[in-house]
Amino acid sequence: MVGKRPRVFVTSELPGKAVDGRPVLDPLREIADCRVWNRAEMPQPEALRQELSGCEGLLCLLTDRVDRAVIDASAALTTISSCSVGVDHIDVTAATERGIAVGHTPGVLTDATADLAFGLLLAAARRIPEADRFVRDHRWTPERRWEPRMLLGADLSGATLGIVGLGPIGQAMARRAHGFGMRVVGWTRSQRPVDGVEAVSFPRLLEISDFVSVHVALVDATRNLLDAAALATMKPGALVVNTSRGGIVDEDALARALASGALGAAGVDVFDEEPLPEASPLREAQNIVLAPHIGSATYRTRESMARLAVDNLLAGLAGRPLPQCVNPEVRRRA
Ligand code: DGY
Repeated sequence: MVGKRPRVFVTSELPGKAVDGRPVLDPLREIADCRVWNRAEMPQPEALRQELSGCEGLLCLLTDRVDRAVIDASAALTTISSCSVGVDHIDVTAATERGIAVGHTPGVLTDATADLAFGLLLAAARRIPEADRFVRDHRWTPERRWEPRMLLGADLSGATLGIVGLGPIGQAMARRAHGFGMRVVGWTRSQRPVDGVEAVSFPRLLEISDFVSVHVALVDATRNLLDAAALATMKPGALVVNTSRGGIVDEDALARALASGALGAAGVDVFDEEPLPEASPLREAQNIVLAPHIGSATYRTRESMARLAVDNLLAGLAGRPLPQCVNPEVRRRA
């Protein structure tokens, strides 16, 4: 007897190919009735609930707010697979209570994200976007061919980089910094030692670092970790990079510190509200490099994320443990 095909809702087309060269969602389409949202605008909560109704599986993005009401929209739901490492957009507690496995995509985006973090650090330290605007705006004139004080920035070699959060991406950031001759100090909530990184307390890290790069996940304990009070304890003229999640750095406080010169510069890829609101004070700052949440945006990385998200969902639908599961206790209880 042929079993009933599970129903799955996928909130966006995904880029790349499966290992056998087919479009990446094909292995899912082969075993499930797969509805893929293909409109330009992302599904709003009501559409998400409607589409999910009756589905066993959900494949979502970090932009989809999968709250308790969405999860409860399908009594049949067994597996949520997010094409992201971060899962702060999913109510994992609600999913776990319902025995629903939640998958994510760690590992495959480590290097791409650390590359972007280091790129933002370099761009902010050496004022590269400002230099680009300087040339395009015809301010580099024959009268000002080369000036000893033009567009001066900060040196990396010999400077101290403080890494907040020493998971795989924080560690990848440390390797890059070592290559540039930086001293690396780090703080992690688990206090796990990491080779080549001098462990310090969080206050000490802020006090001694010339550059601070944020690599912790957004959870209750890390929300507003770098608030106005924390930013005020940083070295004068220090630089902040955030490629983790908005909500960890207080954006208004950051904008004020940049405007007053208390902080020298910043490179930010993630925001409390995305897209960054038009009225955000960060848009006004000249000494900040802004990016639209592109930490993992390389062809190879996005393909690997999509493959892993599909593999997680396939495993969940088959009743197998997910290759990368946020709440593995669900399977143990089942
Ligand atoms: C993630 O996967 O959580 C990242 O933020 C995507 O770049």
